[in-house]
Amino acid sequence: MKHSDLPLDHIIQGDCVEELNGLPENSVDLVFADPPYNLQLQGELWRPNLTRVDAVSDEWDQFADFAAYDAFTEAWLRACRRVLKETGTIWVIGTYHNIFRVGKLMQDLGYWILNDVAWVKTNPMPNFRGVRFTNAHETLIWAQKRRGARYTFNYEAMKRLNDDSSSPEGTGKQMRSDWQLPLCVGDERLKVDGQKAHTTQKPEALLYRVILASSNPGDVVLDPFFGTGTTGAVAKKLHRHWIGIERDETYVRVAHERLASVQSLSFDEEVFVIKGKRGRPRVPFGTLLERGLLQPGQTLYLDPKGEAQAKILADGSLKWDSFTGSIHQVASHIKKAPCNGWQYWYYEDPQTGQRQVIDELRERVRRERSEDEA
Ligand SMILES: C[S@@+](CC[C@H](N)C(=O)[O-])C[C@H]1O[C@@H](n2cnc3c(N)ncnc32)[C@H](O)[C@@H]1O
Repeated sequence: MKHSDLPLDHIIQGDCVEELNGLPENSVDLVFADPPYNLQLQGELWRPNLTRVDAVSDEWDQFADFAAYDAFTEAWLRACRRVLKETGTIWVIGTYHNIFRVGKLMQDLGYWILNDVAWVKTNPMPNFRGVRFTNAHETLIWAQKRRGARYTFNYEAMKRLNDDSSSPEGTGKQMRSDWQLPLCVGDERLKVDGQKAHTTQKPEALLYRVILASSNPGDVVLDPFFGTGTTGAVAKKLHRHWIGIERDETYVRVAHERLASVQSLSFDEEVFVIKGKRGRPRVPFGTLLERGLLQPGQTLYLDPKGEAQAKILADGSLKWDSFTGSIHQVASHIKKAPCNGWQYWYYEDPQTGQRQVIDELRERVRRERSEDEA
C-alpha cells in the first residue's frame, strides 16, 4: 500500500461508511471519530433568563431508536477497522448517551481497548433545569485494531507535555487519563454570519494531545465525521497527513476554508519527531561504578562548592549522615526540594582536583554506547 493510493490531505464529501469502503484496506495509521451522539433531545431548552440554549438538535444527530443507532455505529466502526493498519489505533469520543453502546460494539468487532480518557471540561454548560449533575465530561475510548499488535504511543512526549520539570531526569509525571481542557470558545469557535458554524466543534487542544500521543509525522490520520475539520487542522500543524469525510456540504465548505488558512511551519525533524527514551538512553547511576568511572566508597559533593558530602555505596546508592537513597533521593533530602541528582552531585577529578558534575560521566557513557552501536 502506497500513500499515493490515498486521497491525502483532502476532504471527501459523502457518507463515511460508503467512502471508507472505497479506500484501500490497511492504509491508515490513526482514526479520530466524533460521531453523532444520538442525544435524543426532546423540545427546546431554555435558560432561566429566557434565552434559548444552543443545543445539538441537528438532523445528523437523529436516529429512530437505539437499534438504528447501533446498526449505524457498527457499520462505521467496521469500515474504520478495515482501513486501519494492523498497527493502527482509533479514538472515539462520546457522552453517556452513546459511549457505552460504542464501547460494547468496538469490543464485539475485535478492537482492543487501550484506555478510556475523561475529557474534563473546565467550563462546562450548566444543567439548566437543575434536575441532574452538571455534565462536565466526555469520554474518549482509545483502542487498537488488534490485541497485541505494536502501536504508537509517544509516552515520553506525553510526560513532557504534562510539564512537571521537578522530578528526577527532568521529565514530567506520566500523563493521566483525565484531561482538563476547556470547551472550544472564543476566537477558535468558527462562525458563519455571526452564528456558530457547528454545534459540536471540538477544541484543538484535545486533538493536539490525541494526535501527538498516538501518531508520528508523516502518518495518515483519518476523521470519518470531519465537521469543521478540527482533526485536519491539528494534523496539518503537526505534519501528519489527514483525510476527512463529512456528509454535510456546509460543513465541508467551512472545513475547506479552515484548512486552507492553517499555516504549518516548515518541517524540522528536531521540532516534530518525538524522541523517546531511545533518543536519550537511560543510564542508571550504578553503570558509572560498573564502568569504573566512579568507585565504591568515593565521595560525592553536593554543588560545586557545597559542604555536604555523601559516600557512594557498592550498589549505586548514596549515604549521607544516616540517610541512604538514590542520587535523587539524597539530594532532595538535603535540599528539602525535588532535585535531579545528576545535576547536583559532583566528584573530584583526580587529575585536576576540580569538582565535576556527575552528569558529564553519564554523557560519556551515552557517547560510548552510541559509538559501540555505530
Ligand atoms: C459530532 S460532529 C463532528 C464535529 C467535529 N469533530 C468538529 O470538531 O467540528 C459529527 C459530524 O458528522 C457528520 N456526519 C453524520 N453522519 C455522517 C455520515 N454518515 N457520514 C459522514 N458524516 C456524517 C455530521 O454532519 C457532523 O458534522
